[in-house]
Amino acid sequence: MIFSGSSNKPLAQKIAQHLHIELSPIDIHIFPDGEQRIRVGEHVLDQNTIIVQSAGMPTDQNYMQLFFAIDALKRSGAKSVTAVIPYLGYQRQDHVFREGEARSMEVIGAILLSLGVDRVIAGDLHSVKIAEIFKIPLLEVSALPLFAQKIKENKWDDTRTVLVSPDMGGVRRIKKMSELLGGMPFVTIEKNRDLETGTISAGLVQGEIKKRALIVDDMISSGATIIQAVNLLKERGAQDFFVFATHPVFCENAALLLQNSSIEKVFVTDTIAVPKEKQFKKLEIISVGALIAKAYEDSKSNTTSY
Ligand code: R5P
Repeated sequence: MIFSGSSNKPLAQKIAQHLHIELSPIDIHIFPDGEQRIRVGEHVLDQNTIIVQSAGMPTDQNYMQLFFAIDALKRSGAKSVTAVIPYLGYQRQDHVFREGEARSMEVIGAILLSLGVDRVIAGDLHSVKIAEIFKIPLLEVSALPLFAQKIKENKWDDTRTVLVSPDMGGVRRIKKMSELLGGMPFVTIEKNRDLETGTISAGLVQGEIKKRALIVDDMISSGATIIQAVNLLKERGAQDFFVFATHPVFCENAALLLQNSSIEKVFVTDTIAVPKEKQFKKLEIISVGALIAKAYEDSKSNTTSY
């Protein structure tokens, strides 16, 4: 049985379609003070269940809704609960950057563990540390093969093109992308973020820049990382820019920044539902619904609890 929170019902519907089941009803009531009451609308006793909830903005509210939904399923006797969290919020705080900070991702993992979730399926992860932090099975569904397919379809995998990671943290990702494209060359930019102000500056580039740059990142939040990368690449001779980022967080005026930039096209996925007012002409959204459904099917055959 599959249930959806309110953050990304269109994706939950797609996953359900690929699993050849219907979304089951769930009642989400928001009180005037913002508190949420969740009620599962069908008998789940001894059933394997899936709850789909993305933790994009408002992150905390979406997480609380997910936690309550999991509790409702467990309390109602579900045999297993798989939490599909296409965008796993707080993953950038996967370690303590400065003395005195909380490790937010570990806190989210601890809550999910305490609620008795059997497994989590999430879209592209920010780092390998996240799977280590989680004490429950965490399956990563990567959108990189979908992006690679797009690149091949458009014949951008030629000698005039280079893949770009806009920061050193994305090296694992860009190497994987390069592999998917038969060893396509890549460059990495050294990005610095001021931890006090959040200001981003892009510096050193490692590798040879070419005319067409395909920038690959896990998420676009404010858009600053991508814009800084484009500016730097332009200074060094690149002319055509395409962006591939799994999670369209799109906070502040990211949509406007991207639309008004010299980027030709921005490819993202539907791990986060992009509201109409944040959609823009250069944006193309690719669905990860089929990949998530497949990951779930595969996990069934790989575990004993099913
Ligand atoms: C950072 O390490 C991530 O991989 C993204 O590059 C970053 O979160 C994007 O944020 P923004 O769009 O605000 O620059």
